[in-house]
Amino acid sequence: MRAGIRHVVLTLGVIPMAVALAACGSGGGDPDGQSAPRIGLLLPDATTARWEAQDRPLLEKKIRQLCADCVVEHANAKNDVAIQQEQMDSMITKGVDAIVLVAVDARSLANEVRDAAQADIPVIAYDRLAEGPISGFVSFDGQEVGRLQGRALLRAMRDDSAGKRQIVMMNGDPSDPNAAQFKKGALSVLAGRVKIGKAYDTLQWRPETANMNMSGALSALGVANIHGVYAANDGLAAGSISALKANKVDPLPPVTGQDAELGAVQRIVGGEQYMTVYKPFGPEASAGATMAVTAAHGAALDRVAKDTVRPTGGKQVPAVMLTPVSVTVGNIKDTLVKDGVYTVGQICVPRLASACSKAGLT
Ligand code: BGC
Repeated sequence: MRAGIRHVVLTLGVIPMAVALAACGSGGGDPDGQSAPRIGLLLPDATTARWEAQDRPLLEKKIRQLCADCVVEHANAKNDVAIQQEQMDSMITKGVDAIVLVAVDARSLANEVRDAAQADIPVIAYDRLAEGPISGFVSFDGQEVGRLQGRALLRAMRDDSAGKRQIVMMNGDPSDPNAAQFKKGALSVLAGRVKIGKAYDTLQWRPETANMNMSGALSALGVANIHGVYAANDGLAAGSISALKANKVDPLPPVTGQDAELGAVQRIVGGEQYMTVYKPFGPEASAGATMAVTAAHGAALDRVAKDTVRPTGGKQVPAVMLTPVSVTVGNIKDTLVKDGVYTVGQICVPRLASACSKAGLT
């Protein structure tokens, strides 16, 4: 785990100098040298907390640090593909200098990515790989996210239900390429070791859909026969847990998650959720901002990224791939608190006081 964090720091260690060079460079995105560079930031939805609560402020801050006169034009597609297509069109019409895109649906946005490339506007795919001729990509190893979730689930179930372990899988939205990676990684660990009683794909990553699906799984399998829940992210974990509680499942089976949402961290402290996957927001936003500013100045991205990726319908491009971290109650302090994502005060609300002191969160 620590090695993972160290890896992140090392990966990004090369970036600041390269950006400084890019920022002093020819200003390729601003040929007249007059107007301030403009960067479009297109986020997918307001359902999952991270995009507006973590990624947006961190990206904006880092872009400002790297480029004091850069202007960020933000828009949120609220999970609607047509709205995001319009937002892309509008950024292209305005002639922004670079676009940071978290695609609602990778395939449906490919035409707009092509239009941007034709207009010489570099598109940085942020967290989710977009289809088409993007210029760069920053994300985490998605299969490793799934493996961390799968391993944690096996560990949590080991003592409970000798050999008769049955789980329910709450996977993400199939139009998000990350969802397939998470599922593949998780199955590489879980297949053959547990029985998968029910598996669902969750359109638009909606917690209320996971809630409905978990109620269905409980009726189909029986409340006593679910020994673990693979939830691909914290929103799906929340929806699943509320269905388990509504059906009086006690004790709750271990439930996985992802995103280190504050509510999930509190559920972990309170014993309702077993784990989450923390994908350090700071390094991801920093790499995304660095790529965007570099591209907006017309400089090459291979100077700021050491990995590569080949998107569907595009050629190989520079990428920064970061390492995810598994978080259970025992390492909240060494990860999320240490990195300044949350203070102990934010996590330890009065109702969690005794759970917090048991967990050493004081
Ligand atoms: C991201 C996750 C997020 C999910 C739902 C995925 O592409 O990697 O962090 O929970 O989308 O928004």
